[in-house]
Amino acid sequence: MSDRMFVLAHITDPHLAPLPAPRCSELRSKRLGGFINWQRKRRDIHLLETLEQTAAEVKRQRADHIAVTGDLVNLALEAEFAPARAWLDGVGPPDRVTTIPGNHDAYVHATSHRFGEIFAPYLAGDDGSVGFPGVRRRGPLALISLSTAVPTLPLMATGTLGRDQLAALEQVLERLAAEDVFRVLLVHHPLKSDARQKRMTDAADLLALLKRHGVELVLHGHDHIHSTMWFEGPNGNIPAIGVPSASALAHGRYPAAAYNLFTIEKDNAGWRCEQTVRGLGSGFQIREIKHARLV
Ligand SMILES: [Fe+2]
Repeated sequence: MSDRMFVLAHITDPHLAPLPAPRCSELRSKRLGGFINWQRKRRDIHLLETLEQTAAEVKRQRADHIAVTGDLVNLALEAEFAPARAWLDGVGPPDRVTTIPGNHDAYVHATSHRFGEIFAPYLAGDDGSVGFPGVRRRGPLALISLSTAVPTLPLMATGTLGRDQLAALEQVLERLAAEDVFRVLLVHHPLKSDARQKRMTDAADLLALLKRHGVELVLHGHDHIHSTMWFEGPNGNIPAIGVPSASALAHGRYPAAAYNLFTIEKDNAGWRCEQTVRGLGSGFQIREIKHARLV
C-alpha cells in the first residue's frame, strides 16, 4: 500500500438496538406501524451484538475515514438519539467519521430536526455549517453529503432531495470541477429503485446533474443489500455502491451485516479505486466477500 493511498470505510443502516420503550403519546400514526414491525420482525434482525462486531472490525481496519450513510435510529423516538450518538462516538471522532440521515432518522415531523442537532459535529462541512449538501475534504477526497431524509406517510420509505438541495449541489460540483479531488457522494437512498414506496422521488434530477458534472463514487444505504450500479457521467460511468445493514442477521433475500473498504489513489493514469466488501459469514466470522476495481 503506498503512502498516498487513502482508505475510506463505508457502513450503513445501523438501526441501533435495542429500541427504547416508546411512550403512548409517541405511538401515533406512522410510529405505531413501525413499532409493530419492530416487535414482530426487525428486533430479531437488527442486533446490537452484530453492529458492535461490524463496527469493531471497521475500527481495526484503521481507515483514514468512515462514512455512515444513514438510518442510525429506527422510529426517531426522542430516547433513541443519545444512544445513537454514543454509538457513533465509539466508531470514531467527528473529524474521522461523516454521517448523513436516512428516512428512519426523520421518521416523523416531531423529531425530524433532532438528527441535525445531535450529530452536528459529524455533519458539519469544512466551513463549519451543518446543512446539505455539505463538503468535507479529507486527503484526496471531497466528501459531499446529501440528505434525502423527509418524514413520509405510513408504509412509505421514500426520500427527496428537493430543488434547493439539488441547485446547491450543482454549485458545489461546479466549484469542485476546478480541483483535483476524488468526489464521493454520500446519500441514503439508492439512485435507482424498483420499489415505488422506497424510492428517491427526485432521483432523475440527481442523475441528470451527475451526468453533467460527475463524481467519482456514490455511496448509499437503504436497500440493505449488496449493490453496485453504474450511472452515466461526463467522463465515463459512475459506480454507486450499497451494502447491507451493519447490524443485520441474514433473513430472506437480505444478507448479513457487511461493510465496504475503498482504497483510493492517483497515479499517472488517473484515479484508481478498489472496493473490498467484508461481511458476516457462517459462525459469525467476518470474511472477505468481494474485491473489485471500480475506477
Ligand atoms: Fe435502513
